[in-house]
Amino acid sequence: MIKKIALLTSGGDAPGMNAAIRAVVKTALKNDLEVIGIRRGYEGLLDQDFIEMKRGSVSDILQRGGTMLLTARSERFKTPQGLAAGAEILRKDRIGGLVVIGGNGSLCGAQKLNELGITTIGLPATIDNDLAYTEASIGFDTAINTALYALGNLRDTSYSHGRVNVVQVMGRHCGDIALHAAIGCGAEGVFLPEREPDIMGLCNIINKRRDLGCLLNIVVVAEGCPLSLEEIKAVLTKQTGAEVRTTVLGHIQRGGSPTSYDRLFASRLGAYAVDLLLKGASGRACGIKYGRLVDFSFEEALAIKKNLDESLYELFELLSK
Ligand code: F6P
Repeated sequence: MIKKIALLTSGGDAPGMNAAIRAVVKTALKNDLEVIGIRRGYEGLLDQDFIEMKRGSVSDILQRGGTMLLTARSERFKTPQGLAAGAEILRKDRIGGLVVIGGNGSLCGAQKLNELGITTIGLPATIDNDLAYTEASIGFDTAINTALYALGNLRDTSYSHGRVNVVQVMGRHCGDIALHAAIGCGAEGVFLPEREPDIMGLCNIINKRRDLGCLLNIVVVAEGCPLSLEEIKAVLTKQTGAEVRTTVLGHIQRGGSPTSYDRLFASRLGAYAVDLLLKGASGRACGIKYGRLVDFSFEEALAIKKNLDESLYELFELLSK
């Protein structure tokens, strides 16, 4: 019977991580489990940077962005020695189950610990939404909303000056933030890592809009797009004669208070993870499909390739013209 669990957040922080931490801790305490918070992800595991989590440890964190457990991208843990050392620390400390809250790399780490015999559950938390086995990851919804707020402001100034505003959003190799934000703000163009950029097509659209008297143009560019902002700017300036301004939204998208969706989703996932541990499950990656929480083996979950939602891309094309 499991008596003690630990949890950590790892990789890029994502709004809603705190809500997940709170739900894990409260559900575990309710079931008389001892709970250890590991600070700074796998890096903190190797340093044994542990804190005991009590009811009070998670009060007033639900609505906060970031992660109260802090996070890191640990190179040490990726080595076979680091991994073995991490597993040994957990074993020695009699941790009966570990909840890992993070993105792709973090869940891969959890999978490897599981292969070494550590009971492990993974919760998807990354603004990138690049985990194919789940329809959403904690933080994605908040990041799009943050991007939409910024894009709304840029629309005002784009209109006032009759300019083209080219805006880079995050997402690493995944175009989900860019595509969702482009549809949500009514952008004229979007460039994604998953698609060959049709920059001449965009120039034609901008030229036609100018002839019709449309003043504003927003182009959303995913950070994984093969063209740089400067390259895009140069072509747009030459082919349309418009004044072009570029903006990198950057880490602004990673912070902020989580949306209602992320708070609820993260809370559900946190409780779900502890339920799985109490049922004796291990090596499971949790997520959501058609509104229901689901879990897959790490092997199955992490083998699924993330593809662009073609129907959303078609919707963008339809609505942007
Ligand atoms: O994975 C989340 C993310 O914000 C990506 O969108 C981005 O490419 C990366 O992390 C930035 O990482 P860092 O915070 O280490 O600069």
